[in-house]
Amino acid sequence: MPLPLAQASPWHVHALQRTAAGPAEPLAVPPRMEWTTRPGLGPGAEILGTDLRRKRLLELGCGPGHNIAHLATRHGAVATGVDLVGLQIRRARAHYGRLHNAAFVAGHALHYLQATNEPYDAIYSVFGAIGLVSPALLLPAIAAHLPPGRLLAFSVPHPERTGRSSSTDDRPRRDFVALPDHTRLPIARWEFDADRWTDHLARAGLTITSAQEFPDLRRVPRPTTLLITARKT
Ligand SMILES: C[S@@+](CC[C@H](N)C(=O)[O-])C[C@H]1O[C@@H](n2cnc3c(N)ncnc32)[C@H](O)[C@@H]1O
Repeated sequence: MPLPLAQASPWHVHALQRTAAGPAEPLAVPPRMEWTTRPGLGPGAEILGTDLRRKRLLELGCGPGHNIAHLATRHGAVATGVDLVGLQIRRARAHYGRLHNAAFVAGHALHYLQATNEPYDAIYSVFGAIGLVSPALLLPAIAAHLPPGRLLAFSVPHPERTGRSSSTDDRPRRDFVALPDHTRLPIARWEFDADRWTDHLARAGLTITSAQEFPDLRRVPRPTTLLITARKT
């Protein structure tokens, strides 16, 4: 029996509406990797390393796979994208399944990491699983797949984007997934500032190397993206 939509994950509803809005067909590989809410703003793939040829990369919450396609094709990386929603993985494969060295896997980010011993040269998330899964669980699981010196990079919605202040404790807060039909569904999100991320990263054996914020002045006069990099100690 199909799952009634009211009980489906907000991310499944999100993927369903996106798929209904446009056919999942082969797409041209994006010319740039995007980390922020404003395409063209902020760094690109160079944040993951200057030479990514044959480097093993993992994206947690890859959605339709645009960044994986870019990294595998334009930089010669061996890139795997994981997404909780099977429909997103089906879209990613329809868009980019033809590409060499780009693989797409359905699953929860934490379960995927727990089910393999594979080491990675870099693990990243672009508004993906980091911030949506308990950092106390996810960050150690990520660190376990990074040899010393290897990189974690992630962007999250800036905790102060709506005018609220950052979390003053380690609990998640209520946020919303904005849907293509202009409605929204509630989710839980960990809304840390850079200092709190620094502490959580350190507890997992990762040292923060940069924290940058980016505005999207088309939307609000506040930062909308927080982009963090860290290295396995
Ligand atoms: C806002 S989208 C970002 C997609 C992609 N990174 C991009 O920039 O286009 C968030 C994605 O994270 C996925 N996601 C949410 N929770 C997840 C989890 N626990 N494990 C893996 N993926 C997850 C959702 O299904 C969704 O595709």
